[in-house]
Amino acid sequence: MTRLIELTLNGRTRVDAVADNLLLLDYLREVVGLTGTKTGCDGGECGACTVLIDDRPRLSCLTLAANAKGRRVDTVESLGHDGRLSAVQRGFHEKLGAQCGYCTPGFIMASAGLLRRNPRPTENDIREALGSNICRCTGYVKIIEAVQYAAELNAAGVAP
Ligand code: FES
Ligand code: FES
Repeated sequence: MTRLIELTLNGRTRVDAVADNLLLLDYLREVVGLTGTKTGCDGGECGACTVLIDDRPRLSCLTLAANAKGRRVDTVESLGHDGRLSAVQRGFHEKLGAQCGYCTPGFIMASAGLLRRNPRPTENDIREALGSNICRCTGYVKIIEAVQYAAELNAAGVAP
């Protein structure tokens, strides 16, 4: 069955007809054309597909598009404005938190969600918030440093 959903995606209201079994991940990538959200394991194990729903990190490979009805969904494409990177994007860029970059949008959205809820996270807070995200390249130290730096930028007024 197909149903109409209205949601706020990256700050803009959209109305789309979606099949009941359409995953949010496939809706974002194939219906809307936002390919920043990555398909990794496709089974809730890697975090590459992380988006924010009402500021909470959610795995879009385990979420039905229909369940986004009436919600605010933010993808990595929502971050940064007027050519300026967000605090988390700058953190990953300047602290070398990415290598191949495939996992990076998921880490960035999980980190942005953390800073929206908790602008001054401890290292443990960061490790816990990123516990559902897997990176096969960096070894995580640079990723933690990237989020710590992003929190400093955020405290100085740069949006997460
Ligand atoms: S693709 Fe969603 S958790 Fe891996
Ligand atoms: S940077 Fe390559 S998987 Fe994370």
